[in-house]
Amino acid sequence: LNYCVPRTRKEIFETLVKGLQRLEYRGYDSAGIAVDGDKNTTTDGINNNNIVLIKKNGKVKALDEELYKKDCMDLEMELDTHFGMAHTRWATHGEPSALNSHPHRSDKNNEFVVIHNGIITNYKELKKYLNSKGYEFESETDTEVIPKLIKYVYDNREREDLSFSTLVERVIQQLEGAFALMFKSSHFPREAVATRRGSPLLIGVRSKYELSAEHIPIQYNTAPYYSVLRDCAVNPVVPEGQRAAEPISMFKEGVQEKNSHNRPDIANAVNFAEDGKAVEYYFASDASAIIEHTNKVIYLEDDDIAAVVGGKLSLHRLNRLAGEVPVRAIQTLQMELQEIMKGNFEAFMQKEIFEQPESVFNTMRGRICFDTNKVILGGLKDHLKEIKRCRRLIMIGCGTSFHAAVATRQALEELTELPVMVELASDFLDRNTPVFRDDVCFYISQSGETADTLMALRYCKDRGALTVGVTNTVGSSISRDTDCGVHINAGPEIGVASTKAYTSQFVALIMFGLMMSEDRISLQTRRLEIINGLRILPELIKKVLTLDKNIKSIADELYEQRSLLVMGRGFNYATCLEGALKIKEIPYMHSEGILAGELKHGPLALIDKHMPVIMIIMRDACYTKCQNALQQVTARSGRPIILCCQDDPEVSKNAYKTIELPQTVDCLQGILSVIPLQLLSFHLAVLRGYDVDCPRSLAKSVTVE
Ligand code: G6P
Repeated sequence: LNYCVPRTRKEIFETLVKGLQRLEYRGYDSAGIAVDGDKNTTTDGINNNNIVLIKKNGKVKALDEELYKKDCMDLEMELDTHFGMAHTRWATHGEPSALNSHPHRSDKNNEFVVIHNGIITNYKELKKYLNSKGYEFESETDTEVIPKLIKYVYDNREREDLSFSTLVERVIQQLEGAFALMFKSSHFPREAVATRRGSPLLIGVRSKYELSAEHIPIQYNTAPYYSVLRDCAVNPVVPEGQRAAEPISMFKEGVQEKNSHNRPDIANAVNFAEDGKAVEYYFASDASAIIEHTNKVIYLEDDDIAAVVGGKLSLHRLNRLAGEVPVRAIQTLQMELQEIMKGNFEAFMQKEIFEQPESVFNTMRGRICFDTNKVILGGLKDHLKEIKRCRRLIMIGCGTSFHAAVATRQALEELTELPVMVELASDFLDRNTPVFRDDVCFYISQSGETADTLMALRYCKDRGALTVGVTNTVGSSISRDTDCGVHINAGPEIGVASTKAYTSQFVALIMFGLMMSEDRISLQTRRLEIINGLRILPELIKKVLTLDKNIKSIADELYEQRSLLVMGRGFNYATCLEGALKIKEIPYMHSEGILAGELKHGPLALIDKHMPVIMIIMRDACYTKCQNALQQVTARSGRPIILCCQDDPEVSKNAYKTIELPQTVDCLQGILSVIPLQLLSFHLAVLRGYDVDCPRSLAKSVTVE
């Protein structure tokens, strides 16, 4: 959205498409765009501010090509102020198709158009209600209720002169679920309204001039507009701790609060465009979409409504909550554009695998003093006493982030001398796991936005536990909503399959263990061993990466197979789970991570000379037990590819092939042993002809339950 910066429509398209491409890793089954049409293309007779929607199934590239086919639009036309919006989708309701892709619209005249990230859980009730009022739906999505609902509120506004943001405010009071929303309307040309609840949303502000404000004040409305009707027909059962949704029956015609506030919408607004200074606003769910334009951003909080009217940005919300800060700060992002570019690599995933010597170094930078053996995690130090007194540590995550918890559990039990539970967020919630005030709960998440992990965070907060975030995304919901935490500083991770975030989460959790054990005399030798291991870790990772060719040749042999088993135990069990996940995610091969101790309880039946097996056998406390497993596999004509330490003839002689790794401290070995499997996943996917950065049906950041 730009003020006083004339842009051609072509430039506007390019900006939107580039932004989508930077976000494509979050979802990529279809994409769409909404821009202001040419005045002379108006066909609806409603007004001269018609909106053009262009939507396309498939990747952003397909949408980009489609844009230039529209001969009704003058691409060279310069527009002084313009608000365009675009979206790339990962289907939750309705198959990927142009019709189901966003923006969604209120009606054939595109009076209101909306893009949405998240999920509306009460869409069926809303749809039923709106259907009964004669609103016709064209897609199968949950999102479509939103443009229909805003039009309904607009159509029933009676004599009130409602602003665009007030309409949006009324709409979100009816929504349940998670959303980041952007609204555009032909009734409010060149105005933008955005809001969020549970899904991330930020506003970038770009100006050639110094920004005059560091904080944006918030305007509070005294009371919600709609009251909950006492005579409402349905009385939904609301889970403890959740806000009751206001019932649909409140839509009864003409029901309004008497004291509906009539506030001037742009009082308290910040005018970045004062004195004709050029300003552009960028609304996005992720900073990587806008970083090439500006590094000045405002993160919106749940239920904030941001409106830009006449170049002025204003923030609103309903009643002020106790303890809430009534401003939103403008933050300066440290992210560099080149960090999110692919460089000479074929795929982001490959680039990120090869970045690991630097990314793990950055996780440790400034936090470990190798002279004094002190480890200080700034975001945790004020809470250390409380953590040391706790009943237990609960580590919660999904996918790869969960595996980072499994990988470090044993070391954390040893270093903290506390019980450590590791939990998949979804299962943790399904079980209604008992959580107490003296528990410390860790939320491990690369994105900091995973819906299941976020819900587990809210669940534990409600029960009074201390909450600790371990994320890679500054400003993410998890990093903001936890009491304290650690940023893993791995740099932006774009590849859908997590690689460098895993090794950095691993290192961050080990550092937490080291910080907790600083004053334990009995643990000093062990601490020193681990700290020395961390010191040379980046060098050892570089050595592992030199095995790439060797791993490619193994991939050449395996890529036509249907299945691949990965076995190990002890400190390397998590590597089996994570390796198997990588092999599922990117090459779409069936793969299982098997605890070698369980081999004889079932998986052994799968072993014969045809079943590809990878075994991880490192020189640690489980070495002898792993050799037993190896015997069991070779006795059934299995032909194992073995990940082992350098110079281990005993193991090598029974191997079909070996991948020899440098040896490090047992509890850090998993950082080295996972890298060959990351590389294997990459090569298998390339050989099988798949798009490494856009695996089918998966998204980088799963912001739906
Ligand atoms: C998705 C991604 C996985 C990731 C998981 C957790 O499923 O595809 O790669 O491990 O979410 O994501 P988080 O951002 O919470 O670490």
